[in-house]
Amino acid sequence: MCGIVGYAGRRQALPILLDGLRRLEYRGYDSAGVAVLNNGTVEVRRAAGRLENLVERLAQDPIPGGQVGIGHTRWATHGRPSDVNAHPHCDCSGQFAVVHNGIIENHAALRRRLEDTGHRFTSETDTEVIAHLLEAEYDGDLAEAVRRVVAQLEGAFALVIATRREPGRIVAVRQESPLIVGLGRDENFVASDIPALLPYTRRIHVLENGEMADIRADRVTVTDWNGKPVQKAFIDVTWDADAAEKGGYPHFMLKEIHEQPQALADALRGRLDPDGARVVFEDLSLTPEDARRLRQVYFVACGTAYHASLAAALLTERLAGVPARAEIASEFRYRDPLVDEHTLVVAVSQSGETIDTLSALRAARERGARLLGIVNVVGSSIARDCGDVIYTRAGPEISVASTKAYTTQLAVAALLAVYLGRARGTLGDHQARELLAGLRDLPELARETLDQAGELRPVGEALAQARDLYYLGRGLDWVTGMEGQLKIKEIAYIHAEAYPAGELKHGPLALIEDGSPVVVVSTQPDLHRKTASNVQEVKARGARVIAVVREDLDDLGAEVDHLIRIPRVHPFLTPVLAVMPLQLLAYYAAAARGADIDKPRNLAKSVTVE
Ligand code: AGP
Repeated sequence: MCGIVGYAGRRQALPILLDGLRRLEYRGYDSAGVAVLNNGTVEVRRAAGRLENLVERLAQDPIPGGQVGIGHTRWATHGRPSDVNAHPHCDCSGQFAVVHNGIIENHAALRRRLEDTGHRFTSETDTEVIAHLLEAEYDGDLAEAVRRVVAQLEGAFALVIATRREPGRIVAVRQESPLIVGLGRDENFVASDIPALLPYTRRIHVLENGEMADIRADRVTVTDWNGKPVQKAFIDVTWDADAAEKGGYPHFMLKEIHEQPQALADALRGRLDPDGARVVFEDLSLTPEDARRLRQVYFVACGTAYHASLAAALLTERLAGVPARAEIASEFRYRDPLVDEHTLVVAVSQSGETIDTLSALRAARERGARLLGIVNVVGSSIARDCGDVIYTRAGPEISVASTKAYTTQLAVAALLAVYLGRARGTLGDHQARELLAGLRDLPELARETLDQAGELRPVGEALAQARDLYYLGRGLDWVTGMEGQLKIKEIAYIHAEAYPAGELKHGPLALIEDGSPVVVVSTQPDLHRKTASNVQEVKARGARVIAVVREDLDDLGAEVDHLIRIPRVHPFLTPVLAVMPLQLLAYYAAAARGADIDKPRNLAKSVTVE
């Protein structure tokens, strides 16, 4: 998720571009850059790190002026954060500049083809291929050249392009990644999101997939990619800047909960090969041969990432036939773990900077283990230490409470388990195809799951006064309960505990009394009857039961106080969906308590000190 801005108008472009990028920094902040058309040249300035580094670069090396330009603040997906990987990217001759948000799935093949015809690349990014394609395809009309270029791209892309060949014009296209056009007086704008436009205009067009905007100071023409004009309705934005940054949601956490379908689509993009019934990781150095030599797998992480690791270990054992376990990183590192060169240690981390996980990794490396990261932040310390990384591509997660990072970690863990299972020959074609089909459907099923958010609000609010909360489930459902209890603890400050439901009789049942709120998760067909008996046990002691079930396992209806159904999906993938109602229950309980949801007391987004 990056931030894009573009301007064509009566004013100097640079201040407007920088102001827009500042308002979009929540979309990505590992590097930034601008390109301004000035007297027949494309003036490009870029800098790694926060936006102020770019401002400093511009102070040292100013852009003389120009009324047309584009800008970008990056959230890296391909190529670590650096000056050379920062956008805008240009072709060899510096005629074209492009900024991009999204993932070009076929960039490697395009890059090889372009290099074979003499193009020289300077960055590690997927985006740079677009600049070289523009140089190859341009024959006097920018819009026509862009049409020929986008026809060659596979994946998700919001692009804004400028060229010194046509100094009064920028062209924008949208496929999956968001883009909006802002309409002003003798000036027009384009941006990834509304906050960048608010100081200048509240009149916008939202570009849809397959649309192109041809933007000049005095007019905006929207067409499809065949050049056919598209009539666009204006929208008059009423949000203030703070609401706009949160996409109209009251908190980043709720926004990020609802971003999960898109985050899942991004995490899975280009990694499912249904024809070959296999998973494809573009940059993974762990070969199938390496996978076959593994004797055990450890997942090490903290907090929410540890819960994703619990699921990852269960799936890895079941699908790859190799002993796998999840360890809390702060425990692993002091336990003198029995790991060696036949062990794969997988560090799971959103931030990639959690000191306990980093230290656990180093302990594993000292013992000869093979390392792999499942990380969200590209180029982070854990990503660099692992060397081998599968990025979750969840985009920036601003709220301290982790939501979309968790569900994308689960999705990537499932991808890894399938990859290992296929490599080790323990996962057959049929089962692999079933899992890949389930993974493919996850984004849409997540949308369906989140559609019931409104119904969950009163249920969550009713939990706000609870003193103690209990979460029960078996197997993967227990893992979902573990994540649910952490969410309501950390944002609503309500004491909560999760237990394997089979443990109830071994002690925790003594805590259940009249009115005790109990959340039961039951999405596993082979365990459902057992869990249903646990519902009876707690109901018999007066508990109020909220049950989250897979929709075909909804025979608990009569016994529970509130039944939440999630769409039917492969049992190994239900944790991705089942956690969403629990995220929402925690959110609404916290909102009812007036808690500081995005910045809970005592907590930090990334725990970089022990
Ligand atoms: C989860 O909501 C918390 N923010 C916390 O438990 C977090 O998951 C943990 O600190 C690990 O962070 P990481 O994923 O950035 O390593």
